[in-house]
Amino acid sequence: MRFENKTIIVTGAGAGIGQASAIRLASEGAHVVCMDIAESREETARLIREDDIGDASAVAYDALDSENVKKVFEDTISAHGRIDGLINCVGAGLPRSALEIDEEAFDKMFDMNVKTTYRACWAVLPHMKEQKGGKIVNFSSVAGRSASVLQGPHYSSSKAAVIGLTRHLAREFGPDNINVNAVAPGVIGTGRILAQMSDEQRKKTEAATPLGRIGAPEDIAGVVAFLASEDARHVTGVTIDVNGGFFLA
Ligand SMILES: NC(=O)c1ccc[n+]([C@@H]2O[C@H](COP(=O)([O-])OP(=O)(O)OC[C@H]3O[C@@H](n4cnc5c(N)ncnc54)[C@H](O)[C@@H]3O)[C@@H](O)[C@H]2O)c1
Repeated sequence: MRFENKTIIVTGAGAGIGQASAIRLASEGAHVVCMDIAESREETARLIREDDIGDASAVAYDALDSENVKKVFEDTISAHGRIDGLINCVGAGLPRSALEIDEEAFDKMFDMNVKTTYRACWAVLPHMKEQKGGKIVNFSSVAGRSASVLQGPHYSSSKAAVIGLTRHLAREFGPDNINVNAVAPGVIGTGRILAQMSDEQRKKTEAATPLGRIGAPEDIAGVVAFLASEDARHVTGVTIDVNGGFFLA
């Protein structure tokens, strides 16, 4: 029970990796605040409570709306008194080739992946600084390390930006005992990704993965739990690749 008496916010907790992370953190004792724009946030929190996994609450949250992010974080901080961790799972891609993208699409992708991360970090960092501690886990991607096989260049570059943001915050807030790290998943079989993949793409991805399979959201949740825990107390500014060896193929 690494997270007993800890409160951890998971954004994007209504589906996929965010949902799996919320369940994993709750199973180790955290009270998880499941934030999502979709009502499925309620299902995640209900599942955690009703299946006796642990304790969770659900909060409506729009990561693209600065005012909403500020308000929801202020309310959450004052309701719980202390926020020990923030897991920033909101993010999305779009399968496009470079010349299909215009400047508006490029900006939108950065808003979805970089500025959603920025807004949540900025909303929680003053509080973590004051309490002299906290753990933040951001979401990059194998696309931010290399070039995406599924999504466009606006996605790859936005996920590379998350790595830079994570490193910078780690350096600046290390003296406040705040660890800031990121996870770079490979292809993970969430509903969103499975809907985008043809059978052929799936087979190709499996063949290009030394461990021979597409990842599961739970594969990421285990690494998120490590980074959010005291086991990772001396780890900061890193991005952990969780991709079945995709890079090595
Ligand atoms: N699944 C993969 O293969 C994969 C690979 C690399 C990186 N990632 C990254 O991991 C993270 C999670 O991916 P996933 O596949 O679990 O995604 P997902 O689409 O399954 O879940 C994302 C959740 O975010 C929520 N959301 C979307 N817009 C929102 C907004 N404006 N405000 C609040 N919530 C919003 C959605 O409702 C959804 O519940 C993303 O940052 C993604 O880029 C995923």
